[in-house]
Amino acid sequence: MPEVVVTDLIKKFGTVQAVENVSLTVPDGKLMTLLGPSGCGKTTTLRCIAGLEDPDAGEIRIGSKVMFGQGKNVPPEARQVGMVFQSYAIWPHMKVFDNIAFPLKIRHVSSNEIKDKVRSVMQRVRLETLEDRPATDLSGGQQQRVALARALVHDPQILLLDEPLSNLDAELRDYMRIELRELQRSLGITTIYVTHDQVEALSISDHVTVLNGGKIVSTGSPRDIYVRPDNRFVASFVGKTNFIVGKLSGGPEKDHYVKVETPIGPIYCHGHGVKDTSGDVLVSIKPENIVVSDKAPTDKMNVFEGKVEVTSYLGAFTEVQVSSGGQSIRVHAKSDEVNFEKGSKVYVKFPPTYCALIAPT
Ligand SMILES: Nc1ncnc2c1ncn2[C@@H]1O[C@H](COP(=O)(O)OP(=O)(O)O)[C@@H](O)[C@H]1O
Ligand SMILES: [Mg+2]
Repeated sequence: MPEVVVTDLIKKFGTVQAVENVSLTVPDGKLMTLLGPSGCGKTTTLRCIAGLEDPDAGEIRIGSKVMFGQGKNVPPEARQVGMVFQSYAIWPHMKVFDNIAFPLKIRHVSSNEIKDKVRSVMQRVRLETLEDRPATDLSGGQQQRVALARALVHDPQILLLDEPLSNLDAELRDYMRIELRELQRSLGITTIYVTHDQVEALSISDHVTVLNGGKIVSTGSPRDIYVRPDNRFVASFVGKTNFIVGKLSGGPEKDHYVKVETPIGPIYCHGHGVKDTSGDVLVSIKPENIVVSDKAPTDKMNVFEGKVEVTSYLGAFTEVQVSSGGQSIRVHAKSDEVNFEKGSKVYVKFPPTYCALIAPT
C-alpha cells in the first residue's frame, strides 16, 4: 500500500481559508488521524485528497503518483481512494447489495466480478445476511458497515474516513472503533481518519495530526500528543490539563530537566517543545499524573504543600482541587485512595517526566 504525502495544501471558500498550508505524510499501511474542533478544516483536507474539492495550491501524492499539483488534477474515480462520509451517503432506494456494488458499476466491472467482490467485502465487514435488505431497514451500525463495504469494494489504495462513528450510540461506537482498527490493520491499508473526538483519535491512531483554524498545530504519536503536548491548544484540547505560569531559570539541569520558577515553587520539567530558554513559559500536567497525599513524600523534588478546596467523586476516579501558592490544581486520584476533608493539608507531587513545558501563547 502506498504512502500519502500532502504538501502545502491550501483551500479557500471565498474569504474563508479552510485549509492553510497543510503538509502531512501518512506512511505506508499506517493510520493517521486528523483531530480538531468543528470547522478546523478536517473534512476539506480529506475531500481534497479524495479529489472532491479542487485545492487552491499545494501537492497531493499517493505512492509515486501525483494526484494534484505539477499541473495535474486526477479525477476522483481514478485516484483509487475509498471514502466513508460522515453522513454515510447511503442511497435509501437501493438494496444493500446495490449500494455496495455502485463503485464497481461506475467502473464498468462485469456483473460476475461485481457479485464476487461485493460478497467478499460483505463477509469482511460481517454483512453477509443483509444482501437483499432495503438500505432504509438498517440500523446505524449496519449503515456504517455498508458505507465501509462500499468504500472498500473496489480495492482502493487508501482509505479516507470522515467521522465514521459519530452517528452511532456510545456503546456501538466503542465496539466499532476496535473493529475498524482491526480491519485496517488486517488489510494493511493506508488510512486517514477524521474525528473531533480525542479519545477516538488516541485509541485508533498510529499518528495524530491536530488541526486548528485550518492549520496543523501538532503532530506525533498518541502518547506524545497526550503526555507531552508541545503547545497550549493541544494541551487543553486533548484531555484536561493544569497550566502553571512560570519563568525558566536556566537550561537543562538535574537529569536533563529544566527548572521553572512558579508561584507554587520551582518545578523541574521535561524540556520538550521549548526552543527559547528565557522568559515566560507554561507547565502543563494532566490531573491523573499528579500524586496527592496527606503525608509528605520522602523525595522532595516537585512536591508542594496545598489545601483541599473541593473533592468530587466521579466513579472511576475522584477529582481533588488543591490550592497551592494561589493556584488551583486539579488532581485525579483513585477513589479508594483519597478521603480528604475540605480545607485539609495535602502534598501534591508532579513527576517531572509528566511536566510538559510549553510556550504561553
Ligand atoms: N462548501 C463550502 N463552502 C463554503 N465554506 C465551506 C465549505 N466547506 C467548508 N467550508 C468552511 O471551511 C471551514 C472548514 O470546514 P470543514 O473542513 O468542514 O471543517 P471540519 O470538517 O473540521 O469541521 C469552515 O469554516 C467551513 O464553514
Ligand atoms: Mg467535518
